[in-house]
Amino acid sequence: GLPSHVRIHEVGARDGLQNEKTVVPTEIKAEFIHRLADAGLTTVEATSFVHPKWVPQLADAEQLFPLLGDLQGVHLPVLVPNERGLDRALALGAHRVTVFASATESFARANLNRTVDEALAMFAPVVSRAREQGVHVRGYLSMCFGDPWEGAVPISKVVRVCRALIDMGCDELSLGDTIGVATPGHVSAMLAALNAVQVPTERIGVHFHDTYGQALTNTLAALQHGVTTVDASAGGLGGCPYAKSATGNLATEDLVWMLHGLGIDTGVDLVRLSATSAWMADQLGRPSPSRTVRALTAR
Ligand code: HMG
Ligand code: MG
Repeated sequence: GLPSHVRIHEVGARDGLQNEKTVVPTEIKAEFIHRLADAGLTTVEATSFVHPKWVPQLADAEQLFPLLGDLQGVHLPVLVPNERGLDRALALGAHRVTVFASATESFARANLNRTVDEALAMFAPVVSRAREQGVHVRGYLSMCFGDPWEGAVPISKVVRVCRALIDMGCDELSLGDTIGVATPGHVSAMLAALNAVQVPTERIGVHFHDTYGQALTNTLAALQHGVTTVDASAGGLGGCPYAKSATGNLATEDLVWMLHGLGIDTGVDLVRLSATSAWMADQLGRPSPSRTVRALTAR
């Protein structure tokens, strides 16, 4: 059966904006996040405390995060690759942090300048220190279904890194189809393999990109396996600066349209959310790639 409620983990302000050529002004980012929260999203990934040379689009994390202090009751996770990032996030009072691993060596090198295992070693003290402070930790895992340099990714590689992230103390995982090549049978096989090594389904989120138009059907396959946390990006913003073939994330509006149609509650006001994404598209000077945004805001 399908769940009655899905928690949407909104990534537009981070995964979306990190991939824009133009750097969005800090006040516009703050307004975007406030509008996402007003539309009913309860988990809004805010920014990254990474090296500013690696992701200049999010170099204003120190300026942005304090502008979100009034958002009570909304989780605002931030990406931290290492202890330096954790220190920066904790100094601003972040309650949720996210490390980001890779299933493949090529992407670990491109994204983190590390091998897969060196990256895990970098995260271990981040996760333990965060948990000591009562900070919730999410572990992203990129390239779970395919890699632009290595091609097909064996499920066994993904399972090994997921197990390592859980054993390290991550509260939840997010399985990333960074380049959007997954199909539903692959998703089912992946979730079954994780189930077989006792990674609890309630701690697994899914993060699909829509490169081949499969993101929604993959989401449905995951829901049928008991997954109830789904990542999506308002207006379909995003991609990944270190993986050229990655196009946009699953659009939050397309996801909400499907979930509400299935009678699954999300707490999201689709009209408000679409208006927000149309407004952000205006800021960026190009139309939203989301079909649902276009349908609902057509003039
Ligand atoms: P490195 O060059 O190996 O860094 O990069 P290092 O550890 O050798 O340090 C070099 C310098 O950087 C030092 O400064 C550090 O202090 C500084 P120096 O002593 O030379 O003056 N430094 C930092 N400064 C600020 N904040 C920090 C920080 N860390 C070190 N946190 C590093 C390693 C991890 C830092 C780098 O590779 C990096 O920042 N990578 C981030 C890449 C990124 O953000 N990618 C996008 C997110 S992943 C994604 O989008 C996929 C996802 O959406 C899911 C999916 O779709 O798959 C999550
Ligand atoms: Mg992504």
